[in-house]
Amino acid sequence: MVARERREAGAASGPTAVASSDALIVVRNFTKDYVMGDFTVNALRGVSLEIGRAEFVAVMGPSGSGKSTFMHLIGCLDRPTTGDYLIDGVNVASLDADERAEIRNNKIGFVFQGFNLLARTSALENVELPLAYAGVPTRERRERSEAALEAVGLSDRAGHLPNQLSGGQQQRVAIARALVSGAPLLLADEPTGNLDSKTSDEVMGILVRMNEERGITIVLVTHEMDIAEYASRVVVFRDGKIETDRLNQNRRRPAGMPPVAAVPVVQTKARA
Ligand SMILES: Nc1ncnc2c1ncn2[C@@H]1O[C@H](COP(=O)(O)OP(=O)(O)OP(=O)(O)O)[C@@H](O)[C@H]1O
Ligand SMILES: [Mg+2]
Repeated sequence: MVARERREAGAASGPTAVASSDALIVVRNFTKDYVMGDFTVNALRGVSLEIGRAEFVAVMGPSGSGKSTFMHLIGCLDRPTTGDYLIDGVNVASLDADERAEIRNNKIGFVFQGFNLLARTSALENVELPLAYAGVPTRERRERSEAALEAVGLSDRAGHLPNQLSGGQQQRVAIARALVSGAPLLLADEPTGNLDSKTSDEVMGILVRMNEERGITIVLVTHEMDIAEYASRVVVFRDGKIETDRLNQNRRRPAGMPPVAAVPVVQTKARA
């Protein structure tokens, strides 16, 4: 289904539409203005979209088109100037700062271009951090973090400091940290921006696996078409608006992973 059809189909009709009540993310008419003295930047100028559970969405568009602003808003790191936002059925506008922080901790994992790992802290301890903040007891913290490192293929690097890891390994630690709390949503802003193409493929392999095996919903900003091709849907921003929104019929597969047809489909209510 092409973008225009998809938008026109609305929420209830059409095989690819996601019913509002089942969508993980519902954004209605986001605007974001940054006021700089006499000057206002209209970073977002009316963005609406729904993202279903276990979707893998690539966000593209020119520099300054509002991609990171959008990610900050759906990550509850900032608030829109106008517009509504529901995550997992919860209306974010109605929450106070503490409740928003709780949503961030429980529902959202973040991965950025610069890996944002603590420098003098081992891979395992970096992964443990969100659990430590959440007050998870030491032993459980360790077990869950070890499992998260194993899931990204880094059990044998648990004791390494970030500067003793390759760029791709550091990003995999960041992914383990983002998902260790059990968040259903992963937001990634140019996670492969600092990586070469082979390493990017490895990192994308981890994300595709998390998406397909665990049903993690992923929203990923990228400038590179060959990275966006891993996603099931590609949304393009321009001048603070969505220019196109299309399903990706020819998803690229990471090296070593079976073709899409052989992968068990995560059945969610939204798609049933
Ligand atoms: N904190 C801020 N204060 C003022 N203006 C901002 C702020 N953050 C972003 N902007 C402006 O809002 C617009 C959108 O910025 P944003 O960072 O969302 O773009 P982007 O699509 O992520 O770009 P890039 O691909 O370069 O990362 C830009 O014109 C930018 O200059
Ligand atoms: Mg950006």
